[in-house]
Amino acid sequence: DENKLKKFFIGSIDQGTTSTRFIIFDGTGDPIAQHQIEFNQMYPQSGWHEHDPKEIVTSVEQCIEKATELFIDQGHDISDIKAVGITNQRETTVVWDTNTGEPLHNAIAWPDTRTKGLVRELKSRDGADALHDICGLPLSTYPSSVKLIWLLKNVDAVRDAYDEGRLSFGTVDTWLLFKLNGGKERDIHVTDATNASRTMFMNLYTVQYDDKLLDFFQLDRSKINLPKIVPSSSPDAFGSLTTGSLKGIRIAGCLGDQSAALVGQQGFSPGSAKNTYGTGCFLLYNVGEKPVISNHGLLATVAYDFGGKRKPVYALEGSIAVAGSGVKFLMNNLGFITHSHKISDLAASVDDNGGCVFVTAFSGLFAPYWIDDAKGTIFGITQHTERGHIARATLEATCFQTKAILDAMELDSGHKLAELAVDGGMSNSNLCMQTQANIIGIPVDRPAMRETTSLGAAIAAGFAVGIWKEFDELKEINQKDRMIFEPNISKEEGAKMFKKWGRAVEMCRGWLA
Ligand code: G3P
Repeated sequence: DENKLKKFFIGSIDQGTTSTRFIIFDGTGDPIAQHQIEFNQMYPQSGWHEHDPKEIVTSVEQCIEKATELFIDQGHDISDIKAVGITNQRETTVVWDTNTGEPLHNAIAWPDTRTKGLVRELKSRDGADALHDICGLPLSTYPSSVKLIWLLKNVDAVRDAYDEGRLSFGTVDTWLLFKLNGGKERDIHVTDATNASRTMFMNLYTVQYDDKLLDFFQLDRSKINLPKIVPSSSPDAFGSLTTGSLKGIRIAGCLGDQSAALVGQQGFSPGSAKNTYGTGCFLLYNVGEKPVISNHGLLATVAYDFGGKRKPVYALEGSIAVAGSGVKFLMNNLGFITHSHKISDLAASVDDNGGCVFVTAFSGLFAPYWIDDAKGTIFGITQHTERGHIARATLEATCFQTKAILDAMELDSGHKLAELAVDGGMSNSNLCMQTQANIIGIPVDRPAMRETTSLGAAIAAGFAVGIWKEFDELKEINQKDRMIFEPNISKEEGAKMFKKWGRAVEMCRGWLA
């Protein structure tokens, strides 16, 4: 019952692309204490995007300490925190020396496009066409595989470690689990099925590494330490924290952030979907216990794997590389605003986009287009154009790409979505969510508590330690005060806007500079 659930707590580490947070939830899904830290984004060359792996770990440790202090200040007891979950930015690739546990390079972050040329080369390699059906992902700059191959080709320290059989590879979940659980000492080297499904090394059907995939990338399994793939919810696969105030507490859940958001939104039944507007924006559509390989530019991925008697559940995914990062660009690079949340006011300072369309292709264009060489392009600028128009066009870009993804999803699944659940930073903007509803022509449903990614990781951990046993027990969580945005323009008007976007996408292909 509710009173009992109020006395259990679960911690949730959310290591995202631009910030790290730690939130402590109670058993009813209410966030009790939290702390968030933004960390350094490195762009050493145009198209490159790196993170310092050590800073990532420190940011997590600091968030845990600060949030725990707030938790204790409220009179709670650490011994009531039953488990910790981890959720993370996916694909971002970390390499370290197996013998020392030290990183061999900065992490290459998921939006990085340095592998553009390499991807072109790989696409012409024998066997390239067979990959998609095995792993569900198209060859692009996005997955971890191409980032790892780039490091092997270009960084001596990484190549040497590989040749000498002491190269460890991991996505951010694996790196954090390794470090937070005692590093070399305990040597925990695992990943969950959702994160592994983003590497391009995992067979979607067996949920294990596949030799055909590894052979294609010419990786010798005996020379590289690949993390063991385990379910996303597990009482003993992930170890326990070895330092700090929460020392000894088990990590019992681990999910890629987009999977966690689907779980946090309780998208447990086939046909349910959510769209998370974070640094990028990712629409996941639950397809049930069998993967659906897309013919229309979407990814097939593991949605979540709760282990035990439960089979892995799959999703079709539409990945958009730029959402909140477009807003950050207007703030940091162009000085349009002083804080991200002010974007909405700036966009509302004008009535419409004034004829501007902004294709925010900073990392090429992801789903459903997959144009690696597209560059960010603003169309339709005149003497009339103001900052407000560009702000509006920036928000609209993610909304248009979401519409293109929903169209592809309808073609792949034969099913039209009735309503779209949303969360993430940009979903705080009413203007943006109204625009989204207008462009897709279906209602947009936003929860009051929008930390659904963190909540999802807490749910995975809570299941592993027995706080909940059935999905049904979660159904009251985060249902109060949801806001529904109904479309308020005609279908024709929406279609006219979307047509312009389509034209703009075609025009930004093949920019070689
Ligand atoms: O695939 C990348 C994704 O996991 C990053 O999510 O919320 O940090 O943009 P986010």
